[in-house]
Parts: sequence; structure tokens; C-alpha cells
Amino acid sequence: MLLEMKNIDKAFNGVPVLKKVQLEVDRGEVHALLGENGAGKSTLMNVLTGVYTRDGGSVVFDGQTLDHITIRKSEDLGIAFVHQELNLFNDMTVWENIFLGKEIVNAFGRCDKKEMIKRAGELFAELDVRIDPTEKVENLKTSEKQLLEISKALFFKAKLLILDEPTTALNNDEIAHLFQIIRNLKQNGTSFIFISHKMPEIFQISDRYTVFRNGEYIASGNIADITPEEITKLLVGNADSFRDIYETRPTGEVILKLHDFSGPGFEHINLDIRRGQIVGLTGLQGAGSSELMQCIFGVTCATGGSVEMNGKRIPYHSTHRTMKAGIAMLASNRKENSVIADMSLLENMYLAEHTLSAMNFPIHRKAEQQKYEKYRGMLGIKAQNSSDSILSLSGGNQQKVFLARWLNTEADVLLLDNPTQGIDVGAKAEIYKLILQLAKEGKTILINTLEIPEIQKIADYCAVFYEGRIVKVLQHREIDEQTVMLYSTAANA
Ligand SMILES: Nc1ncnc2c1ncn2[C@@H]1O[C@H](COP(=O)(O)OP(=O)(O)OP(=O)(O)O)[C@@H](O)[C@H]1O
Ligand SMILES: [Mg+2]
Repeated sequence: MLLEMKNIDKAFNGVPVLKKVQLEVDRGEVHALLGENGAGKSTLMNVLTGVYTRDGGSVVFDGQTLDHITIRKSEDLGIAFVHQELNLFNDMTVWENIFLGKEIVNAFGRCDKKEMIKRAGELFAELDVRIDPTEKVENLKTSEKQLLEISKALFFKAKLLILDEPTTALNNDEIAHLFQIIRNLKQNGTSFIFISHKMPEIFQISDRYTVFRNGEYIASGNIADITPEEITKLLVGNADSFRDIYETRPTGEVILKLHDFSGPGFEHINLDIRRGQIVGLTGLQGAGSSELMQCIFGVTCATGGSVEMNGKRIPYHSTHRTMKAGIAMLASNRKENSVIADMSLLENMYLAEHTLSAMNFPIHRKAEQQKYEKYRGMLGIKAQNSSDSILSLSGGNQQKVFLARWLNTEADVLLLDNPTQGIDVGAKAEIYKLILQLAKEGKTILINTLEIPEIQKIADYCAVFYEGRIVKVLQHREIDEQTVMLYSTAANA
């Protein structure tokens, strides 16, 4: 056994979030740590790596009993932690990020920049990762940042690598690549703790699993001995989330009209979207669907064609005017595009609405608190006080706050880019129900996602993107994984 954690307790402000939990990891295994949002997965990893001090319990790693763990000590022992939210310094280079605090010095005691760049290059070559070590991190794509985080952890030859939702910003090829790296390292005896909400992934890469629910240990066993349905039952207590919830509803006039619309990453898009419709957008990463959403919202500048809302043309490149026209957008990649770390979760929630109305009304705290309570119930946000930092919430619960941020603007059209990132199975089902309900009430919803089952559950139709264009529109009953893949990889051509 490489790692034995027993009877671990941890409370925040007197509220227990880990209650006598256990976790055992063997040498050379990939151990899936599973649980709903807020179950305590990240917290346990923070305890193991010395970010938080535990209140009780014992930890044995590599034969050594660890009484007091610090970040430095866990690193020295060979534990590497790739956090759920990326932890890179954007204004530094790739090599500086890798060697921060562990700089290589030359015979004169000076930082040996050349050597560090060379070693970083060698590591990337070994892992078949195409990143220039001298590039500034801010110029990397999110997927490259995620690969950099993982490479960085591998650099110091860890015995145990913790990957907390490592694939949320990776496309299918990149995930396959990461899994290849994991399998190679496993052969050399490296162990992994793998945290993910995506069932297919868990079954592809893991050897064993441990399930937590509400801060308690529930079960563990071999992946080969269990099915995804059984795991879901362990996670949520029932498997109701697999039920088919789609229903048709009456739709209204055309509310959002894209006419020959072109911009960075997509071109000649024509779509007439009716009030009350739910439209799925999908395609491989970079195929144009996410880029289209950003451009509709005014984040990037269009190059041709038009977007009309209620028959009125929206000017290019003004998010404020777009919001005024009644459009809201939940961006993908929470940490980079949504989290305002210095603000409380209440402030994070009302931010968008006040960008719209601040000129007219002062902020009314009590009213905001009431709205927050409404969304908390509606979305099942697990949090203590609304004045707590947004960072005190688990990843999935943060995402729910950002969904509330945009629902709170009462926009008619919601653009949702990868809205269920980091959201657990049970809560996903709740969000799908909510989207269907909103559509019934007359909201129009565009949802961009790489997860086909997601659009299969809720979309009236789905536009498949390939190299910047819509290559196929599939009606609800035609949407299935195989057909979507066929068009999004142009395998039909
Ligand atoms: N620094 C903190 N202060 C207060 N509460 C915290 C803090 N960190 C975590 N919590 C609480 O502990 C609980 C467990 O959170 P944790 O981040 O471990 O969940 P998780 O299982 O990783 O969920 P997810 O899948 O959403 O990432 C949550 O209710 C969270 O709000
Ligand atoms: Mg987490």
C-alpha cells in the first residue's frame, strides 16, 4: 500500500465537511475518487498535501506516518497535486512556472536559465506535448495550460499524482493523450488519484474507486466489478437522473436571427432561433461553436453578417449593448472567465445584473440576499454564508453561482458555454430540468457542449460545427453520439 488515510476529520468554521473518511491507494494503480459536488474530494486532497490541516485521523505514505503535513513536505515525499482550478502564473514563462521555487542553479549559484529551458523542452518531448518553454503562459490555450500543469507535476518524478478534474478543458484527442501518459507512468509504478465526474473516463482509466457522499465514506472496490449505473446509485443514492425528461413545447416568433454571420473562428452562420427553443451547438474543440457564442455576446469582433434580437440589429463588439438587448452568457472555463476571487459569493452572483442596472439603482443588499436564497434553492447551491469567499465553494457549486449570475439578469436569451463543467451527475439532471422549465416559461437557450448526452436530453435541435461552419442540423430525435461524431469529424465527407 502506498497511501493509507484513515478516520480523517475536517471542519470549516465548525461545519464538518469530512467525517471519518478513509482512502487507500496501491502502488501503480489509478484510483478514482468519486462523489457529488461538495462531497469533500478536493478537501481530502488538500489535507493530504498540507494545504489544510486535518482535525483528526491518520495518514501513512510510503511506509511513513505523517503527523504534520506541509505543502513542502508532501512534495518532498513525492506527492504532486494538479489542482481543480489551474494554478499558473500568467505573466511568467512556461519554464519559470515549472521551476518556480525549485530553480536549477549553476556553479556560480545563479539561476541556470538555459538548463531549465533545455530540461523543460526535454520533458515536453518525452510526453509528446507541443509547448514552447519560453512562451508566456498567458499566450497558451486553456488546454495547453492544463497539459502544462500536468507536465509540471510529472517533472519532479512524483510517486503519487493527484489529478483533480484534469480533463475539463481537454478535447477527446488530448484526453486520449493524457491517458496514454498515465498508462506509461503506471507501468513504472506511479500511482494516481483521479477525480472526475465523467463516467466514461472513470471506466476507461481507473483500476479502483472510492465513493464519498456528504463528507462520508460510502464504498470502494474494483472498477471491473461495478457498472456506471451502480456507481451513480452510490453517488446520489438513486439513479433517477437517467430518466428521459425531454418534452416538446410551443415556441414563439423568431427572437434571435443570425444572418450570414462571420467572425474569428467561424463563418457564414445562418440560424433562426425561436422564443422558447433550446438549441444545441457542438463540434470538436475549435470547430467554431464556442467562438460563435463569444462573438454573439460581443467578446470578439464580428467580420461580417448580422445578429438581430427581436428584429433589431445588435452592434458588433459590445457586451454591454448585447446584455441590454436581453442576452446573457455563461462562459466556459470557470477560473479564467467567471471567478472574481476577491468577491463574496453574493457579489459574484449579482455582478452581471448590476453591470446592467447600476446606473439606475443602488445595490439593495436585502433584495439581493433574497434573490440569492431563491437561486440557492433552485440550483441546490451548497454553501454556508453568502458573504463567504467564492473560493470557499466546491468547484461545481461555484459553477452554480455563475449560472445564477446570468439567470439573475432575467435575459430572454441565454448562451450557455459548457454549463455543466464540473457538475455532478445528480445536479446535472437538476440543471437539465431547469433549462427545460425556463424554455417552457419563454426563455430561449443556446447550449454549447462537447457532451452529446447533454444535448440529447434537452435540445430541440442541434447544429454541428466543422472547421468554422455548420455542417449539419439534427432534429431532436436524430441526435445521438454516433451521428454527431460522424458530422463533427467530417467522416461523412
Ligand atoms: N476553505 C473553505 N472554507 C469553507 N468551506 C470550505 C472550504 N473549502 C471547502 N469547503 C466546503 O467543504 C465542502 C467540500 O468541498 P470540496 O471542495 O472538497 O468538494 P468536492 O467534492 O471537491 O466537490 P466538486 O466536485 O464540486 O469539486 C463544500 O461544502 C465546501 O463548501
Ligand atoms: Mg473539487
